[in-house]
Amino acid sequence: MKVWEKRFSELPDDSILEFTSSLKDDFFLYPYDIKGSQAHVEMLCRGGYISPEEKKILIEGLEKIKKELDQGTFPFQKDEDIHMAIERRLQELVGEVADKLHTARSRNDQVVLDEKMFLKEKIKVIIEKIKSFQEIILGKAEENIEVIMPGFTHFRPAQPVLFSHWLMAYFWMMERDKERFKDVLKRNDVLPLGSGALSGTSLNIDREFLAKKLAFSRVSPNSMDAVSERDFIVEFVFSSSLLFLHLSRLSEELIIYSSPFFAWITIPDKYCTGSSIMPQKKNPDILELIRGKASKILGYATAISSLIKSLPLTYNRDLQEDKDVLRETPREVISTLEIIQRIVKEMEIHPANMQKDATTSYVLATDLVELMVEKGTPFRQAYRKVGEIVKILEKQGKDFSSLSQEEWNKYFPFPKEEMKDFEVKISVERKKSSGGTAPSRVKEQIARGRELLAK
Ligand code: ARG
Repeated sequence: MKVWEKRFSELPDDSILEFTSSLKDDFFLYPYDIKGSQAHVEMLCRGGYISPEEKKILIEGLEKIKKELDQGTFPFQKDEDIHMAIERRLQELVGEVADKLHTARSRNDQVVLDEKMFLKEKIKVIIEKIKSFQEIILGKAEENIEVIMPGFTHFRPAQPVLFSHWLMAYFWMMERDKERFKDVLKRNDVLPLGSGALSGTSLNIDREFLAKKLAFSRVSPNSMDAVSERDFIVEFVFSSSLLFLHLSRLSEELIIYSSPFFAWITIPDKYCTGSSIMPQKKNPDILELIRGKASKILGYATAISSLIKSLPLTYNRDLQEDKDVLRETPREVISTLEIIQRIVKEMEIHPANMQKDATTSYVLATDLVELMVEKGTPFRQAYRKVGEIVKILEKQGKDFSSLSQEEWNKYFPFPKEEMKDFEVKISVERKKSSGGTAPSRVKEQIARGRELLAK
């Protein structure tokens, strides 16, 4: 039985009902739907639309439905969505008084309310998960503060950096992600209930009461906007996709650095899987899945944005298709944050291998240029000269330190003794500019990171 069936001369058949039903997609909203309905009932009672006895019956009936849904005993039928299923069940449990539940309310404002309540809860969890990941990054950076690795540009060795500096790069990405989620939380914090189908209501409602009861800090200022906007989901999914881009970059780097060609880190066995044919294999599947999930979330960002593009105000049934994105995005974000932090915490670092690779490929060429600049050579001249020397040394299969005193003097305007400190460790220590990779600067970053997390 459909609530609107009296209006229709012919009813949709089962296959049409199945096509239009969102029950399996919006089932997850039921705890919020029940809570929202209970607050709504209280408000209706204050407005004199239902008696205190009726209020009690409705609230208890809704509570009973919540239990049925929690325990999996709820008797589902061919309901249009979770909202209609709950109203139908209430009717079965408490009878006619259930006819008053939907007073001064539409599913249009009800759906947005449920979605916002759900999202608020999830964003808070996500922020906490990001924070614990940041803690782990800080701990790992501190543990390995002086370990040196080659930093890349174009994926070619460029200059030596501290491994802790590399790790901290991800701390700051996470920091921006966290701030973005906090921002989404602010704009999500607007109560849509009381907007009716689109125009508000002629009945006496108290939206401020509802806002307080449901922990929203303000009410929506425009009913048409309130029932048709899904900006909060768009923003949330955009923020999630950016977070996923960061996690995907990290995963890619960890995959490379743990490969036998690098052997800079080892991913514990429990985060790997084997091959069904090659017995020797140990594959970094979890990290690969994170890359894969990043693509999926990017797809969600496109799906949710195109849902509202060109949609005339106000509610259109297209909007029902926001459910998968809303349900799945936080689930993926939370589980990915949980697992990546375990991997980062438990991965084993091999400093000697990193350091060895940090001494190859003339990674100190820029240091040499900067030393010449300190001695008065104009930068571009020094740069050209070092480039020329690298070309010669490369042909001979030699590096800077293997130059004899005599050869050295041919190229450089200062004695080779001054180069005694010419090694990656000193190079890193010299990068004292603010935000640079010198240990003192990285320690500063870590301290700042700790301060931020303590806030
Ligand atoms: N299942 C619908 C959705 O999630 C509920 C809103 C239906 N509103 C309507 N006017 N048909 O979008």
